[in-house]
Amino acid sequence: QPERTLVLVKPDGVARRLTGEVLRRIEAKGYSIVALEQRIVGADLLAQHYAEHEGKPFFQPLVDFMMSGPVVAAVVEGHRAIEGFRSLAGTTDPTTAAPGTIRGDLGRDWGTAVVQNLVHGSDSPESAAREIGLWFPRL
Ligand code: CMP
Repeated sequence: QPERTLVLVKPDGVARRLTGEVLRRIEAKGYSIVALEQRIVGADLLAQHYAEHEGKPFFQPLVDFMMSGPVVAAVVEGHRAIEGFRSLAGTTDPTTAAPGTIRGDLGRDWGTAVVQNLVHGSDSPESAAREIGLWFPRL
């Protein structure tokens, strides 16, 4: 049965005009985009989205970064889409993410307080349900 995951093109990805490239890779892999919106997000949504990182040293830099410009949020659907998008995205650190992945091909470390890594993808079915509820409450 189809599975849904929340994908974000973070402000660095939008600013670098990589939204189309990210969506192209998702569609080329065979997943469906069932919701898509560009928006500027507030601290309250981000605090909920990143609740697991509250208290960590990079929490505030992360929230500030995510409010630094528009974000593109998408709900991506397909069998094993959660794992599949994480595989497309590559590992967290773009410096060492594998070539062939979004982060490995397109990202790097810019020396900022928070690692800017272009995209977010839900990490489990529980996270996906929670995050889709936050970002797309009417879905
Ligand atoms: P992501 O895994 O999508 O969500 C949490 C984000 O916090 C992560 O991407 C990075 O952008 C950032 N991050 C995680 N760990 C660190 C760290 N040790 N130092 C700076 N930023 C981090």
